[in-house]
Amino acid sequence: MDHSTKPAAALPASSTRRWVLATSLCSLACLFLLSAGLMLVAAGYRPFQPGTAAPWDRFSRVQSASHAAAVAPAPDSSSSDALDLGHEDEEDAEPPAPAPAAAEEAGDDDSECDLFDGKWVEEPVGYPLYGAAECPFLSDQVACRRNGRPDSGYERWRWRPRGCGGRTRLGGAEALELCRDKRLVFVGDSLNRNMWESLACILYAAVPDRSRTRIVDDAGSEYRIFRAMDYNCSAEFFWSPFLVKLETKINQTRALKLDQLPVMLQRTVRADVLVFNTGHWWTHTSKLRAWDHFERDGKMVEMAGEEAFNRALRTWARWVDRNIDPSRTRVFFRSVSPEHKSVNWCYNQTSPISTGTVAPGFPKSLVTIVERNIKNMRTPVTYLNITHLSELRIDAHPSVYTITREGKLLSTEQQQQPLTYADCSHWCLPGLPDTWNMLLLDSLMRPPSNVHLPG
Ligand SMILES: *[C@@H]1O[C@H](CO)[C@@H](O)[C@H](O)[C@H]1NC(C)=O
Ligand SMILES: *[C@@H]1O[C@H](CO)[C@@H](O)[C@H](O)[C@H]1NC(C)=O
Ligand SMILES: *[C@@H]1O[C@H](CO)[C@@H](O)[C@H](O)[C@H]1NC(C)=O
Ligand SMILES: *[C@@H]1O[C@H](CO)[C@@H](O)[C@H](O)[C@H]1NC(C)=O
Repeated sequence: MDHSTKPAAALPASSTRRWVLATSLCSLACLFLLSAGLMLVAAGYRPFQPGTAAPWDRFSRVQSASHAAAVAPAPDSSSSDALDLGHEDEEDAEPPAPAPAAAEEAGDDDSECDLFDGKWVEEPVGYPLYGAAECPFLSDQVACRRNGRPDSGYERWRWRPRGCGGRTRLGGAEALELCRDKRLVFVGDSLNRNMWESLACILYAAVPDRSRTRIVDDAGSEYRIFRAMDYNCSAEFFWSPFLVKLETKINQTRALKLDQLPVMLQRTVRADVLVFNTGHWWTHTSKLRAWDHFERDGKMVEMAGEEAFNRALRTWARWVDRNIDPSRTRVFFRSVSPEHKSVNWCYNQTSPISTGTVAPGFPKSLVTIVERNIKNMRTPVTYLNITHLSELRIDAHPSVYTITREGKLLSTEQQQQPLTYADCSHWCLPGLPDTWNMLLLDSLMRPPSNVHLPG
């Protein structure tokens, strides 16, 4: 592979106007980030302080350092029960604040914190974290506004986790600091690419000198990387939709090798952060199915899809346990990203589902298999349990504002055939994956732990 690195800022002539706009938008956004940051500081925003020195401490120290210049020692008002009483009601009664307010979320007790349970609140200020025009490498597949999506409300929702305080309001500047001197690596399918792209945009939009960034994101390439040189920070993506190896034989039959991993995985072992996912490709049937048969020990085997999925995950888990040094690398597994089909079809939707009734858009058994395998691992794996919060975001898919399999923007005729063409699986950017990344970054500041299965 000979991907030449190019400055992220080197744009084709057609994008120059977007570029100029981007630059002016940046100054606005940067100003906002700065003032929001100052307000957080004024509000007694306190960085996570783990009690004992541990591997994850590196991340929290980075976080503390980034605030140290401005943060006065936080008054210890952290664990007042009185403040917590009636907290939820207070939140509900309050209209959306134009800026992070001091009293609103500061009184949470961390032990109550569940990052993945909570609700979506409309937040007209501060969201999205970057403008689409500010991310010159945003891919056509998910650049919904550029593709003509008329509404933009889906960009302005903030996930408010239950009982977690204000810390989940990270912005681009904090993201950059957390990435300083680190490699953040995503491995998985196009939904993890969606997440990587989101992080690359968040980081890019926050870098003060954008000429000091590099990107390799050739469409069709199995490896992508964004680098912010002044921060020695890189965000990488490795394409591996099954995690295990898919092999095409000379006679073109495709074998999914349940006991082997792709060689390139070895290139990820010394990363600081690893985020894995798999799922969707295992559910593909008929023409979309990417394999012809399963193999173990080099021999063809017959088994149900679920059993194969379980064996593949076991292979992956064993590899992580043998190759990843948990004192150096934080390992995450991102839970299934739900699609919105049939009853909960994403077409024409412009606001999140607000009530609890969502028809699951994925086989529950796969989720259970993932959770069981993670639980049995020696390596502490943090489970980014984004399935439920994403299920509510029926409004956040590209729908008909996307491209065809051949990479062309949908024509007007195609847009009028949403049953055939609407994409209710990936997510618009800016949009939902930005939240996944904020939860990822927030989790970096908390101790790692294996997933706790209910019951
Ligand atoms: C994931 O989050 C959902 C929603 O909060 C919750 O119901 C479920 O139990 C969580 N799963 C795990 C394994 O923590
Ligand atoms: C740059 O980041 C890498 C991790 O990606 C780290 O190993 C290395 O020490 C960093 N370099 C400096 C000069 O800090
Ligand atoms: C293709 O080749 C593999 C061995 O390389 C063999 O097991 C398989 O039967 C062949 N399939 C066909 C359709 O010829
Ligand atoms: C979708 O929205 C368009 C534009 O608002 C409208 O013309 C069309 O009837 C809607 N279609 C459905 C199925 O709701």
